[in-house]
Amino acid sequence: MKKAVCPGSFDPITNGHVDIIKRAAELFDEVTVLVVTNPDKHCVFSTEERCRLIEKAVEGIDGIKVDSFSGLLADYVKQNGINAIVKGIRSSSDFEYEFQMALANRSLAPEAETVFITADPQNMYVSSSLIRQIACFGGDVSDFVPKNIASEIEKRLK
Ligand code: PNS
Repeated sequence: MKKAVCPGSFDPITNGHVDIIKRAAELFDEVTVLVVTNPDKHCVFSTEERCRLIEKAVEGIDGIKVDSFSGLLADYVKQNGINAIVKGIRSSSDFEYEFQMALANRSLAPEAETVFITADPQNMYVSSSLIRQIACFGGDVSDFVPKNIASEIEKRLK
């Protein structure tokens, strides 16, 4: 049984994230979408809100679990017998940042491989911060997040 984790802030989850999660689910037996603390970011949505939005966003995709963790990703990997850390890459700047984290995670938890999945071109410019800005100013986010969570995000941030 091959287990992968898709870690991130998911503040909130976007169509770009969902695409990577779906494609990871094709490659692995079990994929855990993990809301994990990024010490460099202050999140707008609480951990519970982010997990609930993810649960709704991944409805209907088989083999997905949602979890949260506060600590080193490498420790979660060790504690849960994870084989792979899956990350989506949109641009060369994503790659630089992710490559550094992949090397650090490889050193801390060599049992897990980091696997990069390239973003669908349609989602190259989609980010959680873009969605937060659009929703904050009363815009329509339904092209950028799953339809079943769009109005909840808009109401929450307006
Ligand atoms: O969506 P993000 O904010 O780009 O995700 C980054 C995240 C949360 C995956 C990263 O900050 C992380 O792994 N945080 C957990 C703490 C940790 O393990 N840091 C060292 C990574 S080498």
